[in-house]
Amino acid sequence: MLPFALSGAILLAKTGDYFLRKAVLVLPLVNMGELLNEARKGDWAVGSFSVANMEMVMGVLMAAEEKESPVILQIAEVRLKNSPLELIGPLMVSAAENADIPVAVHFDHGITPEVIEQALDFGFSSVMIDGSQLPIDRNIAVTKEIVETAREYGAEVEGEIGSVGGSEDNTEDIAVRCTSPEQALEFVAKTGVDALAVAIGNAHGNYIKKPQLRFDILESISSLVDVPLVLHGGTGLTDEDYKRCIELGIKKINIATATFNAVESRVRQEYQADRINGYYDLQTAEVNGACENALRHIELFGSAGKAFL
Ligand code: 13P
Repeated sequence: MLPFALSGAILLAKTGDYFLRKAVLVLPLVNMGELLNEARKGDWAVGSFSVANMEMVMGVLMAAEEKESPVILQIAEVRLKNSPLELIGPLMVSAAENADIPVAVHFDHGITPEVIEQALDFGFSSVMIDGSQLPIDRNIAVTKEIVETAREYGAEVEGEIGSVGGSEDNTEDIAVRCTSPEQALEFVAKTGVDALAVAIGNAHGNYIKKPQLRFDILESISSLVDVPLVLHGGTGLTDEDYKRCIELGIKKINIATATFNAVESRVRQEYQADRINGYYDLQTAEVNGACENALRHIELFGSAGKAFL
């Protein structure tokens, strides 16, 4: 027999009354780990969608609400020149707080400790420190410092070792260097990170040729490391690749390029079909482009219907 409060909460979760549900369940802005650890109990992963403006935030949340899926909203430090943190940060946090599904707000590829701390001040529930281009000892040291800072905010940290190819904003062509499973173990133990980004042949941006992911390396990392694993460079992998990665311990999949491409191409299509008559049609096209892309990935990652576990 379930305790009354819990069975009441479940009943509310299944009825559609948003305000009642929100008052009782306090759902929306959650820590990344809450979502990733739920995902570890089953064969699914949480989509972490990069956003650059309000329309993308709205589109991703529309998709997640329609699919009753948890979701992560993220922005990378290199993107702040186009979307200043003091504007986009509070927008993302407020959107998460007002969502109808659990949402984590994540700072992606943090490089500068002061900027990471600013994101934490704005209420981001997790941050990534990307020390992957540093020697391992330096990477461990800077990551450990960010873990200590994040703990003061009750927030979580993603670290990375090995090199994911390309770069988040396509300005650098970093070569892939696969994560060493033994170093992954040492890194997690010494830093206390909550999630680990791995390099297994994945790369940021559009893949020029079909990536050959090293599932053998992923499997060894998974068998050694006891934190959820993160796959960067999520755009353009095959359905089969996603499935295999998820089965082998990937619980957060980052999608950036696919969102930007989807928004751009939806806007272009709407112009070509002469359906944009004024600014607000343009805005709607952007929201719909981001939404369509998130819908497709949520289905592929198996997180549909997992919002009210
Ligand atoms: P893509 O641009 O390939 O989707 O990669 C996104 C990413 O990993 C952001 O950190």
